[in-house]
Amino acid sequence: MHIENLNYKQEGQIFYITIDRVKQLNALNKRTILELNHLLCLCEDDASIRVIILTGAGEKAFVAGADIKEFAHFSKKEGEELAQFGHELLFDKIANYSKPVIAAINGYALGGGLELAMAAHVRVASDNAKLGQPEVSLGLIPGYGGTQRLTQLIGKGKAFEMILTGDMIAAEEALKLGLVNDVVSQEDLLLKSIEIAHKMIKNSPKAIKRGIQAINSVFDDSGLKEEIRLFGQGFGTEEFKEGTTAFFEKRKPNFK
Ligand code: CAA
Repeated sequence: MHIENLNYKQEGQIFYITIDRVKQLNALNKRTILELNHLLCLCEDDASIRVIILTGAGEKAFVAGADIKEFAHFSKKEGEELAQFGHELLFDKIANYSKPVIAAINGYALGGGLELAMAAHVRVASDNAKLGQPEVSLGLIPGYGGTQRLTQLIGKGKAFEMILTGDMIAAEEALKLGLVNDVVSQEDLLLKSIEIAHKMIKNSPKAIKRGIQAINSVFDDSGLKEEIRLFGQGFGTEEFKEGTTAFFEKRKPNFK
């Protein structure tokens, strides 16, 4: 597959993937999801790769969410399919990956961007990172696992607050909540991620795979199916039209 939206390289036993759509703040469009899936499939079969480090290009954003321009005219059915497609190809794939995936969050991690980071096994954030699930401002809910994984990571009370207000939180607060594992300066972000990767690489790859499976088995994933259904419900509604139009017009939405 021809890769347009990612930079990637292997150094030693670490494989680095950088999402590179800087002008769109690395928003996840369909093509980027397919490209990520393609690289993850290749890496899974390559025994010389032991850890994946995933980050965003530039200094402003990790990923600012799903690509709003791509789905602004979607129907309920298309919205539901978008979430289903994302789960299968990327978010669940990362969560259940056989090798550790470390998200190096170098700026905004919003909507599908925070969901991508939460699907990873470890999150390291730079001190300028801002994290949030702003989908309600678009007339939607998180659709790539956010309602489930945020609740699992920070508990129901704070998950309600973040998802219902849509507010962003700073890296230090994310650290206090357990949403990220470490906060470092932007220049130390990869160094810290590599340090964690090296500790993992010293260990048994098969035990690591079983550890990921065992931890994931704590959680029942039936809520993900409900999230996909409810995510689809938002599409095509008046509130969705107002939310997306307000985003394109760079103004606040006016929900009646
Ligand atoms: N999709 C598509 N384009 C996006 C984008 C997104 N999620 N986020 C930013 N962009 C684009 C903007 O449209 C803008 O493009 P133009 O220059 O062509 O206008 C460019 O990136 C730069 O963005 P801003 O001008 O808005 O930059 P800013 O510094 O003023 O604001 C920001 C930064 C606060 C991150 C703001 O861009 C923002 O709020 N982005 C949207 C965040 C969001 O709502 N994410 C959730 C998406 S829905 C989702 O993810 C669904 C799901 O769960 C599956």
